Amino acid sequence: MDMNRQIKLFEKQAGKYARRARKQTADHKWRRKLLHSARGNILEISVGAGTNFQYYPEDSAITAVDFSPTMIEQAKGVAAEQNLTVNFLVENVEELNLPAHSFDTVVSTLSMCSYPNPEKVLQKLGALCKKDGQILLFEHGVSTNRLVSRLQNLVDPLVKKRIGCHVNRDMLKLLEDSTLQIERVESSLLNSIHLVWARPSDS
Ligand SMILES: C[S@@+](CC[C@H](N)C(=O)[O-])C[C@H]1O[C@@H](n2cnc3c(N)ncnc32)[C@H](O)[C@@H]1O
Repeated sequence: MDMNRQIKLFEKQAGKYARRARKQTADHKWRRKLLHSARGNILEISVGAGTNFQYYPEDSAITAVDFSPTMIEQAKGVAAEQNLTVNFLVENVEELNLPAHSFDTVVSTLSMCSYPNPEKVLQKLGALCKKDGQILLFEHGVSTNRLVSRLQNLVDPLVKKRIGCHVNRDMLKLLEDSTLQIERVESSLLNSIHLVWARPSDS
């Protein structure tokens, strides 16, 4: 899909994301579990409306990236309500150019479904995270349940067209093939949701 069209799709959803950012929806049990260790110099890619900001300590230095200017505007409002100082960047994550190994914590939640080249993004996360830093991911993907995965494969073209993301990515394979050191994975909902604790590779 053309990137400008994808940006427009997310622009339209920004209001919905902003309302969710202020509510404790069901996904917060996963966000809380994953993000309670977030600290220091934090990079969050594809930040949306800032739903994860509530899990970051007030003294952290946050850099938040999204290619949708409207999402970023919404996230600015949420950051202000939570007294967080955030450096916002309106950029395509796949082309993100920041100093190597400069972040203590690198976060992605529900974003790997959107990129044309998720393997490139995973590599970038490893390159941006400090050697002793942590990479925290909360992602969805294709289920190991055959019925569910068939449904996901069936609806994927429509979801991609309407919402801008894929529902049938094999997240565990993407992680396995990446250069990241995967320390722990917790999967739920018939293995369609994954919490991942990772580190950059040694090399
Ligand atoms: C499904 S939403 C998730 C938002 C947020 N991370 C959350 O957990 O609520 C995906 C977000 O990724 C952004 N996005 C998708 N592809 C992107 C890209 N290539 N570069 C920057 N942002 C992107 C969208 O604008 C949207 O805000």
